Amino acid sequence: MASPERFLISGLGGQRALNGCISVRGAKNAALKAFAASALFKDNLTIHNVPDIEDVKEMCKVLEGIGSKTRKVGDSSYEISALSKPAYQLPRVAAKRLRASIVLIGPLLARFGKVSFPHPGGCLLGARPIDFFLNGFKRMGAKLSERGEWYELEAPSSGLRAAEIFFKRPSVTVTETLMISAVFARGKTVLKNAAMEPEIVSLASFLNKSGARISGAGTPTITITGGKNLLSAGNRAFETPPDRIEAGSFLILGALAARELKITDCNPTHLEAIIDVLRFSGSEIEIEKNGVLTVRNRSRKPLNVFNVITREYPGFPTDLQAPITVYLTQANGEALVFETIFEGRFRYIDELLHMGADIIACDPHRVVVRGPALLSGKDLSSPDIRAGLAYVIAAIIAKGDSVIHNVHYIDRGYERIEERLQNIGVKMIRK
Ligand code: EPU
Repeated sequence: MASPERFLISGLGGQRALNGCISVRGAKNAALKAFAASALFKDNLTIHNVPDIEDVKEMCKVLEGIGSKTRKVGDSSYEISALSKPAYQLPRVAAKRLRASIVLIGPLLARFGKVSFPHPGGCLLGARPIDFFLNGFKRMGAKLSERGEWYELEAPSSGLRAAEIFFKRPSVTVTETLMISAVFARGKTVLKNAAMEPEIVSLASFLNKSGARISGAGTPTITITGGKNLLSAGNRAFETPPDRIEAGSFLILGALAARELKITDCNPTHLEAIIDVLRFSGSEIEIEKNGVLTVRNRSRKPLNVFNVITREYPGFPTDLQAPITVYLTQANGEALVFETIFEGRFRYIDELLHMGADIIACDPHRVVVRGPALLSGKDLSSPDIRAGLAYVIAAIIAKGDSVIHNVHYIDRGYERIEERLQNIGVKMIRK
């Protein structure tokens, strides 16, 4: 929900003045899928390390709307009650606010035989179609009808059937949705050209501990041997893995603006794409034991420039495209940023131009960034979650004061970011 709150940030004017330690929260895009998978459990599901963010509150509303109860049971843990009655429809308002709500249609359709839902919401990053979901369910025997903005899927009377499904391109939420659904579809489902993101691997591994038979998660071919048994968590809880996008954004911030920054509670093996370019560019990044990274750049040499092509995991993540573009405004030379996943993900560059960046938009997928440029503080209005954090980084390195509006976007994905950044020396308040 839109909030009138703003962030006021005093920029460092290019100084490397931040210092200290910042911890990474659980991954939004892993926790939300575990919430959705709860609809396939016969008992209550506990989820740990859940970030305190708006998207989680929205997901709770979606689950409450289908009859589950969600309860916060500790600082960062939730308990979701098993569905006791059939649910056939996602609640319109909450589902339209949250892209991840679509993952829930899989377990509901598989379990109760039909489901209706509105076109899902989420950040405006381009068209964000849902054809792969619909085609996948049709391959599993479902019939689709559309009424206005509502879709209705109906499974055959014997339930969804296993199928071999090839995706035209890897999609994170489609892979997750069909993987969960196939757990409740009799026979062997094979998903080909599947997405390989670590969040999919942690979900599959937890579902397997709860009775599912999924193999190949983390590779392009996932095989699910489905049946008609609901899953059971027993006394196991889903442990949300660290947010690699938040960790990557902190690395970028540290490389630009810190004398030394320790980033804790992360998984460095999920961060290779970003560690690689920052090291090439001149930062020292030390990988310590127990999920700790230290980033520092003591040299006074200009930052080396590099090109970026966003790709599915393990490639360079599209969710770090905006923060790395801010980084490249400070590197020495010309860089191409090629966004291959979404066609509407450069809407934030106009505001960077106002700050003094030198960026040329070539087409909806490519920009050329020339640096280094001295950025000046400005009034900024974020178009989406990840660009919101990129603006925070830009405002921190800029000269002068900035105001960031649309703080609700940042709150959707990052837990109390201002408090955490204040602890490492950022002059930032919420007002
Ligand atoms: N696509 C289709 N048809 C579909 C589904 C996807 O053409 O039915 C296309 C998309 O338009 C895009 C490509 O497939 O061009 C891949 O998109 P994907 O489906 O993987 O994106 P998503 O699952 O909707 C998730 C994250 C995004 C993240 C992308 C890519 C969630 C809830 N969202 O979106 O995260 O950018 O994967 O990694 O998991 C964010 O957290 O801010 C965010 C946008």
